[in-house]
Amino acid sequence: MAEVVAVVDSNVEAARNLASLLGGAGYYESLTEAIRKVDFDAVFITTPTFTHHPLTVEAAEAGKHVFCEKPMALTLREADDMISVARRNNVKLQIGFMRRFDPEFRKAKSLIDEGAIGKPVLVKSVGRGPGLPPRWALDPKTGLGMVAEVNSHDFDTLRWFMNDEFKTIYADAAALLRPDVAEEFPGFHDVVVVAVRFQKGGLGLIDGGCPVNYAYDARVEVLGTEGLLTVGEIQGTSLIICHKDQKMTTEPFHSWRDRFREAYIAEAESFIRSIIEDREPEVTGEDGRKALEATLAAIRSIKEHEPVNLPVK
Ligand SMILES: NC(=O)c1ccc[n+]([C@@H]2O[C@H](COP(=O)([O-])OP(=O)(O)OC[C@H]3O[C@@H](n4cnc5c(N)ncnc54)[C@H](O)[C@@H]3O)[C@@H](O)[C@H]2O)c1
Repeated sequence: MAEVVAVVDSNVEAARNLASLLGGAGYYESLTEAIRKVDFDAVFITTPTFTHHPLTVEAAEAGKHVFCEKPMALTLREADDMISVARRNNVKLQIGFMRRFDPEFRKAKSLIDEGAIGKPVLVKSVGRGPGLPPRWALDPKTGLGMVAEVNSHDFDTLRWFMNDEFKTIYADAAALLRPDVAEEFPGFHDVVVVAVRFQKGGLGLIDGGCPVNYAYDARVEVLGTEGLLTVGEIQGTSLIICHKDQKMTTEPFHSWRDRFREAYIAEAESFIRSIIEDREPEVTGEDGRKALEATLAAIRSIKEHEPVNLPVK
């Protein structure tokens, strides 16, 4: 369906290693160089968040379709610019919310939409990451911290499952797992709770933590007028050892890479298909912007100890 023709990384050694794993794709130190030297249709931008805006704009201006990782950007102005540059150049823009391509999350979404639990009224998403994100994500000059790096997925899931838009966001957070990191990066937090009110009146909750070390933990529960739906689990394998001392051991999902392995492949296939079939990507720039807006509202709420109404000005 598609072929990888180039790998770009400002760490050229990393680009070379991945290119050789991919069976001899070209490797380059910058997107600018790749655009100049190789013919390609689309790019997957999986670099740090502060690079998403400049790289997306550069690619779209060169007529390349763009898949961009979450969080979409650092500011709403950047997100708006990415959406309008993509539109102006008639290229696709998809944002990396892979949970939307996970078979169980997809099944949950269709059951909710079919009315299996009646009208959804409360959605709760647990999003916890095993290890600290890279330093750029923790530094307020280059990243938006844990709520953005880990919980932007939860904001997207809340909107998606509730079929609704955020109205008010109230968040609180603390640095209890790694207080040492808060000493280096004031404002850093590693546990977070977010309470959401949706425009049509439904409620939402996000429970985040990172680094939790025990596993990669993504679980969602939706309460409806006719029942309850839950999706996601911590146990990463069906293998269980039952010991003679009557203790059981098993393995959790260690990382997002194993929990959402199938979903990452499906989201890439879907992006490529959206180009071939010339249709709207399943997760759009607008979806990325909505999750970013909610993330920025939560960050502001944490700072100001007040609920924040959307749209964020
Ligand atoms: N969807 C998911 O589940 C998921 C999981 C992890 C990370 N992410 C997202 O992926 C992005 C990258 O995160 P990461 O942890 O891999 O970051 P990282 O710091 O490990 O960077 C990834 C690579 O980008 C390269 N790079 C940096 N600037 C570049 C530039 N201007 N041009 C080319 N290469 C450049 C780095 O050398 C590095 O090899 C972030 O937006 C993060 O939020 C998404």
